[in-house]
Amino acid sequence: MESLISLVNKIQRACTALGDHGEGSSLPTLWDSLPAIAVVGGQSSGKSSVLESVVGKDFLPRGAGIVTRRPLVLQLHRIDEGKEYAEFMHLPKKKFTDFAAVRKEISDETDRETGPSSKVISTVPIHLSIFSPNVVNLTLVDLPGLTKVAVDGQPESIVQDIENMVRSFIEKPNCIILAISPANQDLATSDAIKISREVDPKGDRTFGVLTKIDLMDQGTNAVDILEGRGYKLRYPWVGVVNRSQADINKSVDMIAARRRERDYFKSTPEYSHLTERMGSEYLGKMLSKHLEVVIKSRIPGLQSLITKTISELETELSRLGKPVAADAGGKLYMIMEICRAFDQTFKEHLDGTRSGGEKVN
Ligand code: GDP
Ligand code: NA
Ligand code: MG
Repeated sequence: MESLISLVNKIQRACTALGDHGEGSSLPTLWDSLPAIAVVGGQSSGKSSVLESVVGKDFLPRGAGIVTRRPLVLQLHRIDEGKEYAEFMHLPKKKFTDFAAVRKEISDETDRETGPSSKVISTVPIHLSIFSPNVVNLTLVDLPGLTKVAVDGQPESIVQDIENMVRSFIEKPNCIILAISPANQDLATSDAIKISREVDPKGDRTFGVLTKIDLMDQGTNAVDILEGRGYKLRYPWVGVVNRSQADINKSVDMIAARRRERDYFKSTPEYSHLTERMGSEYLGKMLSKHLEVVIKSRIPGLQSLITKTISELETELSRLGKPVAADAGGKLYMIMEICRAFDQTFKEHLDGTRSGGEKVN
């Protein structure tokens, strides 16, 4: 059976591809109702590093300042075999197998929307899909980092603009928040915790991730936070050790970095009892499993929304008349087919058949 996450991925892509054609229907509501995971945190807290570790690939632009200036909707699709590749929604016919080219395209596509000036951000997302035997099914949204002051001649409004953009994603009740805080700063100053607490005061849909554990002051450790005594969330905190800037400069590859991360937790006496639930690999698996559970719990609501969407699309298609020559008609058809497949798979999942979801470890 197709996994729920990959179905939701398909419907998300179809909704987006449909663009304005879906206006006035339930599609925008449907899109907003589909659960996704948004990555939030202060600038340089390690958001891009966490994303890359979860994917196991170098593909995100990096650099000082605000590098991420548009939301990046990243869909990971697990394939059984074959070579991994990436695809952008805005370049539907092009398969990228070179991930350095993916990074360049993210950066070029950002500039196409905002201009090359680092002063400007845009709320228009870039959609990227990665197909690989080495990923778990997951949808992640990378967002610009929160800042406290405008620098480099940026307008004062940029601080607030970024905050508003981040809030617009994470205030949706279906959004799962991946709140990134660096361990070498006091948790009380964490931008991620501050903003996620506003929209999710009880921490019911927030996952705390502690980065830079390797950079903590000698004699201090993160055990209190990782065991939930620092800032309580419903789900346990996950600690990670990403590549340092020096590692990146030396091109330490992701496989070596993951191995080193595992060794770090295993061999550090304070953390050895937590090894099983630390690290990026665990984080990816755990999030995928959680996303599957969340989608499952939303099936009844999603199903009625989908039934409504199908009948709206049927009406729209008959209004357009057949054969539908226009691009819009073809797209409507496509999404209707996906909705039908969705409906069918929902039924199968509800029938109690085992889901195709990943298990954690
Ligand atoms: P972002 O701005 O939140 O996306 O942060 P980045 O992922 O770009 O990370 C900022 C800098 O911190 C980079 O130079 C990373 O190499 C470094 N960094 C991130 N996480 C860790 C970590 O766990 N340990 C170490 N030593 N460095 C890290
Ligand atoms: Na940065
Ligand atoms: Mg970044």
